[in-house]
Amino acid sequence: MANSLSRHFSERAKELRASEVRELLKLLQVPDMISFAGGFPNPETFPAELIREITNDVLKKDGAQALQYGITEGYMPLREAVADRMKTKGMKVTKDNILIVSGSQQVIDLVGKVFIDPKDTVVVTAPTYLTALTGWAVYQTTFESIPIDSDNMRMDIFEERMKKLAKRSNPPVIVYALPNFQNPAGVTMPLKNRKKLVDLASDYDFLILEDDPYGELRYRGEHIPPIKSLDDENRVIYMSTFSKILAPGLRIGWVVADEEILKKLVIAKQSADVCANVLGQRIAHEYIVRGHIDPQIEKTRKIYSRKMDLMLGGMEELMPKGITWTKPEGGMFLWVTLPESMDSAELLKKALRKRVAFVTGKAFFADPKDGTSSMRLNFTHPSDELITEGLRRLGAVLNQEMVSKWDKSPEDRKIEDVVKGTMLGRS
Ligand SMILES: Cc1ncc(COP(=O)(O)O)c(C=O)c1O
Repeated sequence: MANSLSRHFSERAKELRASEVRELLKLLQVPDMISFAGGFPNPETFPAELIREITNDVLKKDGAQALQYGITEGYMPLREAVADRMKTKGMKVTKDNILIVSGSQQVIDLVGKVFIDPKDTVVVTAPTYLTALTGWAVYQTTFESIPIDSDNMRMDIFEERMKKLAKRSNPPVIVYALPNFQNPAGVTMPLKNRKKLVDLASDYDFLILEDDPYGELRYRGEHIPPIKSLDDENRVIYMSTFSKILAPGLRIGWVVADEEILKKLVIAKQSADVCANVLGQRIAHEYIVRGHIDPQIEKTRKIYSRKMDLMLGGMEELMPKGITWTKPEGGMFLWVTLPESMDSAELLKKALRKRVAFVTGKAFFADPKDGTSSMRLNFTHPSDELITEGLRRLGAVLNQEMVSKWDKSPEDRKIEDVVKGTMLGRS
């Protein structure tokens, strides 16, 4: 066999690494595996029959256009419909502020192309959306990580950090915020912190990338206005998607941004894929104008709300003492914190043997030293029965782990440490 052809890869490609979540998703195929790992919507929510009907109608009425290339900005009536929806969220926008993208994931890449030079700093939370980290890594991005608490980004720490970063020759341009039911931790930014973030953006001259795929999926508490609706200086680039409220297979998302920024994103998109899926855009548009989207969101909320309650109840009942988790008001995930010295990667190996999967926390941190004792659990994809059974399995693995390793008396630990350091421990 000749030398590996990987020697021909670009410097950039060397930063392309398979994400742990994507690898783990393969485990969904293993028989009996219960997966809390992915971030998938539940197919029970997909309106396949309605989409079939709409697709037929679109093709019958306007097949020639629906199967043709489209303009990069997106199908005009869909841009208008999305602008109307965004106005109801308090944003001052017109269709000219809307770009339709090939899933909101594409925005991560477009923002990388348009705003990030090698060694530029992007501010993220720790933890943050894994695929933003891997997506921007290829642009040789430096990350500045701000810890979270139950109110999402720690604004006090962020402000302190910005003071220092502002003195650098290239202070951060992009601050990446996931204000609603953040992926992975499920935590939400209160209104006063959203206002504060907008004020700081003005003080320190940065842009906010507001990623909001889960905003419509609130099951408890009061709706909080998006950061974009508080933005008088057009510093917020807002992104959202039909993936979690309709169907991710359509691959349709959108951006709301200042026209000057939008124009640049459009040029970047043009060379990436010309335009988003034209038939998919037509379907999404018809779905909205026929009045299906709000009932669909309501139906999805009901199903996920039940699943979240089931999971929170199961956690309460089945997890050993010493383990804590977030109590989201919506979204798709819980974030679990284990005792400090417990490694979730080690735990995962044991959990997989018991046929239950989760994502280890480390994957969601820019700093590889962080996140060892945490994990993300998805509650939207498994069936109700599998949520309960999966938690039973996970609880058993954790209970076993706590008993065997972490519940020891100080004397037991001392004996173990001494034994480990001797020949006895190496047998
Ligand atoms: C925080 C966040 N942003 C963006 C996306 C991308 O979604 P899509 O490309 O399907 O719109 C996801 C998907 O899980 C997500 O969790």
